[in-house]
Amino acid sequence: MSELQIRPLSALMGAEMPGIDLAALTDERFAAVREAFHRHKLLRFPAQRITPEQQIAFSRRLGELQVHVLDQYRHPQHPEIYVLSNVDAATGRTIGHHPDKGTLTWHSDLSFQRRPALATLLYGIETPSAGGETQFADMAAAFEALDDAMKHRLAGLRAVHDLDVSRTRMGEPPMTEAQRRQTPPVAHPLLRTHPDTGKTILYISRHVSHVEGLARSESDALLDQLMAHATQSRFVFSYRWQAGDVLMWDNRSTIHRATAYDTSAERRVIHRTVVIGDVPV
Ligand code: SIN
Repeated sequence: MSELQIRPLSALMGAEMPGIDLAALTDERFAAVREAFHRHKLLRFPAQRITPEQQIAFSRRLGELQVHVLDQYRHPQHPEIYVLSNVDAATGRTIGHHPDKGTLTWHSDLSFQRRPALATLLYGIETPSAGGETQFADMAAAFEALDDAMKHRLAGLRAVHDLDVSRTRMGEPPMTEAQRRQTPPVAHPLLRTHPDTGKTILYISRHVSHVEGLARSESDALLDQLMAHATQSRFVFSYRWQAGDVLMWDNRSTIHRATAYDTSAERRVIHRTVVIGDVPV
C-alpha cells in the first residue's frame, strides 16, 4: 500500500489526499480519512473514477444517507444521489441555467431537517473550465471572531429553517404539498456545539426564514449581519474543480455555496450524497 499523503489546501481549512481510491478503501485507510475529516473539515480526493454504487457505498461508511425530498433531482436508479447537472440527460446539451439556484447561496446542507447533514460528498464528473467553484466558510472561526456582546446575544436564540421559503426566495418553483408535508419548518440553535470537536459553531444557512422571538425586521437585520460577518474573505476558501475530484466536507462546522459560471458554454455535472447527522444542540 502506498504511503498516505495529506496536504493542506489552504491555511484556513481543507486537505487533499492523493493516491486514495474511494472504491477500494481498507478499514485502516478509512480511519485515517475520518481523522483527517475531523481535523481539516474539507477533504479532496483527486482522480477518482467511481460508479454511483461506489459513491453510495463509501458515503454509507460515514453514516445514514439522505434521500432528498426534492425528488426531481434524484438519480433515476440511485435515489441517494442528488444530481447537480446543467446537462440535459436526454439531449446531452447544456440547459443554460444552474440546476438548483439555492446552491448558489451560502447554506449548510439539510439544515431544514430535524437531523441536518453531517457530511456532503460531491463527485465532479464534468467540471467547468472557469467559475462553478465551491466556496466554504469556516463557522468555528466565524464564531470565535464575534465580539462577546454578540456571542452573549446569540446564546439561546433559535432560527427557523424552511426549505420552501429558501427555494422561493431564490426564484425556484414552490415545493409540492407532499414535499412540504415531509419537511415542515424546524428550529435549530444559532450556536451549536460540534459533536466531535466540542467547539462552538455559528449555525446559519440560507434555509433560515427567521429567528424565533424577534420582530421580522430585527431578525432580518441580525441574519444579514451574521452572514456578512461569517462570509468575509478571511473565513472563506474557494475550490476550483477538476474532473474526477471528490470533495467531502463537514456541514456542522462550515457553510458553502457554488459560484456562477457560463451555464450554456460550460458543463458541470456533479453527483452528491449527503450523510445525515445529529440533532444540533
Ligand atoms: C451543494 O450546495 O450541495 C452543492 C454545491 C456545489 O454545487 O458546488
